[in-house]
Amino acid sequence: MVDHILQADHAMRNWADPSPDPVPPGSERHLRMFCELLLQTHNPYKPAVIDWPELAPDALHRVTSLPIWDIAVQTEGRASIRVRTFAGTVQDPLLRRALDMDADEEARHKVVLSKLVEAYGITLAPEPDYPPPDDPEWGWLVTGYSECIDSFFAFGLFAAAKRSGFFPVELVETFEPVIQEEGRHILFFVNWAAWYRRQLPWWRRPLFALKVMRVWTFLIWERIGIARGIDADGTANDANFTMTGSSAVAEPLEPKALIELCLAENERRMAGYDERLLRPETVPRLARLALRLLR
Ligand SMILES: [Fe+2]
Ligand SMILES: [Fe+2]
Repeated sequence: MVDHILQADHAMRNWADPSPDPVPPGSERHLRMFCELLLQTHNPYKPAVIDWPELAPDALHRVTSLPIWDIAVQTEGRASIRVRTFAGTVQDPLLRRALDMDADEEARHKVVLSKLVEAYGITLAPEPDYPPPDDPEWGWLVTGYSECIDSFFAFGLFAAAKRSGFFPVELVETFEPVIQEEGRHILFFVNWAAWYRRQLPWWRRPLFALKVMRVWTFLIWERIGIARGIDADGTANDANFTMTGSSAVAEPLEPKALIELCLAENERRMAGYDERLLRPETVPRLARLALRLLR
């Protein structure tokens, strides 16, 4: 890799606040820290100049026949409008800038995916509209927590696909920054959620907790729907990434080995960021519980 690309890559994976002071969750300093994390680890790559590697016929067939491209493109489209809409409601200039950047990165993911689809001649289902959510906070919470679930599994599946040679090395390298970006997004999100809850007046906290529970219920419902091939809003879609994705890219991996890989990758991808930031906990905890049950 060229020097400046290597530097940008290192900068997106490693970040610490220079001040050694403690950062209590919910404090003003905490807010500044997770915003600066996102802003300063931004990798300024341009999707238009990505040089998609030429694939051998068998690799090309494996990539084009993966049943994930429709859902991936649509997920980025929805994420972008949801984050952008929520950003519009935020007064704090630094938080707003970080959220706008998050929305820009989602929009860029969509461009990267469209370029990939174009480069390899993948046919997509017609795209739906992406209307702004009626409740901006709901849209933001849905995107944030769904990324916490999906990124965790994407980390492991991506590593499995790399390991098994399912994806050629060049393609893995090209796509790698997108996966790390989702890691930054969930780190930013869980810190925002912890900060937001703590700065609410006490009497609003139960309502917020209830909303978060409703979001999780919705997401579980949505994933059951996707696994059955139907979207939460009723449109048929390609199949669940984690389920069909894992059998497609990681044939020899047992569920136990896949979960262990997800946990290890999650750890590795978060390791470069300031230790005072909170880490995504819910999904790794559930994964460790699942591991105990699988034993
Ligand atoms: Fe994304
Ligand atoms: Fe994201």
